Amino acid sequence: MKISILTLFPEVVESYLSASILDLAARRNVVEFEVINFRDFAEGKHRDVDDRPFGGGPGMLLMPGPIVRAVERVQEGHGPDTPTVLLTPQGRRFDQGVAEQWSQRSGLILICGRYEGFDERIRDVLQPIEVSAGDYVLAGGEIPALAVTEAVVRLLPGALGHEDSARDDSFAQGILEGPQYTRPREFRGHAVPDVLLSGNHADIAAWRRQQAEQRTQHRRADLWTRHQNQSASDAEE
Ligand code: ADE
Repeated sequence: MKISILTLFPEVVESYLSASILDLAARRNVVEFEVINFRDFAEGKHRDVDDRPFGGGPGMLLMPGPIVRAVERVQEGHGPDTPTVLLTPQGRRFDQGVAEQWSQRSGLILICGRYEGFDERIRDVLQPIEVSAGDYVLAGGEIPALAVTEAVVRLLPGALGHEDSARDDSFAQGILEGPQYTRPREFRGHAVPDVLLSGNHADIAAWRRQQAEQRTQHRRADLWTRHQNQSASDAEE
């Protein structure tokens, strides 16, 4: 898979991509990263990428020219199934289901905003999929783009050391993951549950399932309701 990230802060993005699982996945040729600076597509002496909004108002907007030219150039290096994604708080909330869908594609183009927003013609011309990292406003799309990148890449076969790791994640089964324990067997009066030391794999699996369900009911009633509705409609099919 090829992931292209367009930003005014390539050094921020590159620094995160060069650590941990993303770097490992790139070195294993599971993914190829490309980081593009919009400013390289700006024109004029000052290479401006932003300007004041017509009609007044606070802050600066990203101009359409450099963004659209940069994205169109990057699209030439991708297949037709690559989604072009604009990171914005106005987009649809990103979640594990979207990460799973995008992990099946051959590429991903992620456009990071800065300043107060985008000139609307960027949307008109590129018709991107708009995605939000959550209902809060950041200074730019870099952290959301890296979140999307990591959520997608860790689902690619060969990206994680252990092939089962992603399958057991919270959300992978539509519910949260339950509690997990490692050494020591007792810590400050808190013991590891006996069942995990029993060696009985069926009991362990049943306990984990029950803990995951209980945790989801308590912490995320919304997810639990959706999960139950899903199970009910699966049973009807
Ligand atoms: N840019 C600024 N805030 C954002 C958010 N919450 N999600 C995606 N992109 C953003």
